[in-house]
Formats: sequence, structure tokens, C-alpha cells
Amino acid sequence: MQSPCAEIQAQVADRALEITINRPERKNALTMAMYSAMAELLNGAAGDSQIRVVILSGADGAFTSGNDLMDFLGGSATGEDSPVFQFMLALYNFPKPVVAAVNGPAVGIGTTMLLHCDMAFAGDDAVFQMPFVNLGLCPEYASSYFLPRIMGHAKASELLLLGKKFGAQEAVELGICNAALPAADTLTRAREVAAELATRAPEAVRLTKQLLRKRSHASGLECIEEEAGHFLKRLSSEEFREAATAFMEKRPADFSRFE
Ligand code: COA
Repeated sequence: MQSPCAEIQAQVADRALEITINRPERKNALTMAMYSAMAELLNGAAGDSQIRVVILSGADGAFTSGNDLMDFLGGSATGEDSPVFQFMLALYNFPKPVVAAVNGPAVGIGTTMLLHCDMAFAGDDAVFQMPFVNLGLCPEYASSYFLPRIMGHAKASELLLLGKKFGAQEAVELGICNAALPAADTLTRAREVAAELATRAPEAVRLTKQLLRKRSHASGLECIEEEAGHFLKRLSSEEFREAATAFMEKRPADFSRFE
């Protein structure tokens, strides 16, 4: 299968579409072109009867370091028709199982997209983080809706307000991942599970996924939209400018002047 973007690789094997995020020099940070490519691949796979499952992973020891901060500073995430939003909706509404293999950093949307995958396998090198507040931003991709429901309010607050990093074992205990594995085994395990899913009755699989998600679907969607409205405004805030500039200048952010 041809990917529309060089930094997103796509291949089909055993009725599984493997999408690999491949921009190692930026720890697989996602640009608008990469979001568009992933949305296009998912939307194509949704209606392709040859594909029964999708595997998501990142190349070269990183899942993804999240949104490309330069892209954000440049103001390219504009509105609900933006590639970010298109990708979010394509994954959120994807009717077939999605299995993730996570190695290295899974930052921002690198963690929140796992809430919308069906199974995830984390390597013992995986580091999860949702540093939205650290960046002067706010939660996205319905993380403020799903995280308290998965792990309770106290833990969700800790992860979202403090932007705390956590590892594979904690991700399993919190209910975000299925298993913590040696780093070299994540993709193999994801492929095994995908192959198993691909042998199951496809309509029964799709129906089960739909039933598992049905009751939270409308509320999650409402939350995605509400968060996106705030998030887009935060991108032009001075707090975000300070945080992103500090990251680029490799210094801690200083929010002391803000009220
Ligand atoms: N956007 C743009 N560039 C990024 C990036 C991002 N999200 N994440 C990493 N990079 C760049 C770094 O600036 C660095 O560039 P340089 O080589 O020109 O200095 C390069 O990718 C390698 O990253 P580095 O920080 O040296 O790797 P690391 O292994 O020490 O740390 C991370 C990896 C992911 C933990 C760290 O880069 C990070 O925290 N990135 C920011 C994550 C983030 O805030 N994402 C947005 C969430 S909304």
C-alpha cells in the first residue's frame, strides 16, 4: 500500500495494515502532512474488505513525541478541518481493531491516541507523558473524559495536571496498555495479536468493537470538540509561547510572570 507521505510508512501483511510513524530525527513528532497521511490510510482501510486490523507503531525506538512543536508555533493547526482533527476522527471512528506497539517516547497524542486503540503493547523502554499543562495547553483527544473513567479522578489529575512521565508497567496497571514486554518484542506481539484478530469472524469483531465503544462514543466526541476549541486558543497564548520557546532553547519554562 502506498502512503501519501514519506514519514508515514504503510504496508499490508496477513490482512493487517501496518502504519509506521517514521521521522526518527524528531523522535517521530507529527507534522500536518503526517496526520493527513494517517487519516487517509485509516479512512481507506475502513472500507477495504482486504484489511481486517491495523497496527500502529513508530520507527527507530520511538512511538511519537507528539505534535511537532514547531508546527504548532507556526500556527498550522487551525481548526476542526485541520489534519490533526481529521486524524483524530479517523481513528476515533475506525470500525476495525487497532493494535499499537509502543517503544520509547509516547508523548501527548502519542499517549492519548492509545485511548482510541483497542489493544496496546508497551516495551520496557516506553515513556508515556501528557505534558499539556507543562506546555501551557490543555488536554486533548478526549483524555479529560476517558482518563478519569479508566483510572479514577486522582490518577488522571496527577497525569494531566503534573504531566508526569510513566513507564510500561504503570501503563498496564492504569489500564492504558495490555502488556509490558521486552522492547524488542512489542511489534512481534502486536503482529501476533493482529494475525489472530484477522482470523476471527470479521462482522462479529466489528460489532464487538462497536458495542464496547458505543456508550461512550457521543460523549467522547463532544469532549474532543470542546477540548479542541480550548486547545486551539491555547496555541496562541503567551503561556504556550513561553513553553515551546523554552523547549527549543533547551531551558525550563518560566511561568512566574503570568497571572
Ligand atoms: N516537536 C518538534 N521537535 C521535537 C519534538 C516535538 N514534539 N520532540 C523532539 N523534537 C526534536 C528535539 O528538539 C531534538 O531536536 P535537535 O536534535 O535539533 O535538538 C530531536 O527531536 C531529538 O529530541 P531529543 O529531545 O534530543 O530526544 P530525547 O530522547 O532526549 O527526548 C522526548 C525525547 C520526546 C522526551 C523529548 O524530545 C520531548 O520531550 N519532546 C517534546 C514532546 C512534546 O512536548 N510534545 C508535544 C506534546 S503536545
